[in-house]
Amino acid sequence: MRFAGKVAVVTGAASGIGKATVLKLASEGAHVFAADIDLAGGQALAASSNGKIDFVPCDVTRPADIEILMDTAAAKGGGIDILFNNAAAGGDRAPIDEISPEGWDRTMDLVLKSVAMGIRYAAPHMKHRPGASIVNTASVAALGAGYSPIAYAVAKAGVLHLSKVAATDLAQYGIRVNAICPGFINTNIFTASLEVPDAMKAQANEIIAGMSAQAQPVARGGQPEDIANAVAYLASEESSFMTGTHLLVDGGLTIGQRHAWDKESPGMFDALTQMEEAAKAGAAA
Ligand SMILES: NC(=O)c1ccc[n+]([C@@H]2O[C@H](COP(=O)([O-])OP(=O)(O)OC[C@H]3O[C@@H](n4cnc5c(N)ncnc54)[C@H](O)[C@@H]3O)[C@@H](O)[C@H]2O)c1
Repeated sequence: MRFAGKVAVVTGAASGIGKATVLKLASEGAHVFAADIDLAGGQALAASSNGKIDFVPCDVTRPADIEILMDTAAAKGGGIDILFNNAAAGGDRAPIDEISPEGWDRTMDLVLKSVAMGIRYAAPHMKHRPGASIVNTASVAALGAGYSPIAYAVAKAGVLHLSKVAATDLAQYGIRVNAICPGFINTNIFTASLEVPDAMKAQANEIIAGMSAQAQPVARGGQPEDIANAVAYLASEESSFMTGTHLLVDGGLTIGQRHAWDKESPGMFDALTQMEEAAKAGAAA
């Protein structure tokens, strides 16, 4: 019960990594304010929680929503101890020589500005709370090319740097700030970001699960719980000497894709491109 008596806020809480983290923090005693644009998913999560989870509707591209989220959590919980800035999606997929200014801005708002504003509106409620900890979801895409479209990669690199710089700003208040860099994790982000039609989502998720099992040196697919466990560590006192840094939880993906030595294994990005093309063809049919 590492989080008994703690108040946590998690964004992107209705699915994948966010949902697994909400359940992890709540299972260890936290009262969690779970935020998402997915009203049905968020309400279902709260309804199943015996009062340990409150759902707060929030679109993280709207700073006013974020301010209301943090004020609501602080008013009901008496302050905020843990913030997990996690909500995002894949953003604009165009290459740098084609992307529109609007697509670039939309991606930065969703992936980077949302995290900055999360910190902005939570920090006043976290000052001088013992063990106060902020964790931001970056990505392997923050560390190198080839893991995602360019706008998302640049925004996630921004999240990584923001985590370092905010850690220095907030150290005086006893607030730690760290990032998590997930590798290839089995969630809905791929079907959501590739705009896979509903009728094809189950099939696409099966393809993704198969690919993710073979993408990296660790010979199984990454699961949301793999990331939730690491977030819980960063949120807990066990990591109290860590700030302004990140944890890479990628099954070894950044060492090298499995395809690098096992030619039977599909290359992750070839497979994603094929899936995107199949989804487009399915949508057009
Ligand atoms: N799955 C991966 O392989 C992977 C790898 C690296 C980083 N990430 C990051 O992990 C985080 C969680 O993604 P996931 O894989 O769990 O995806 P997911 O699609 O399962 O969950 C994302 C959640 O965020 C919510 N969301 C999307 N836009 C929102 C908005 N504007 N406001 C509020 N909520 C919003 C969605 O409704 C969804 O519930 C994201 O930041 C993503 O970029 C994922």
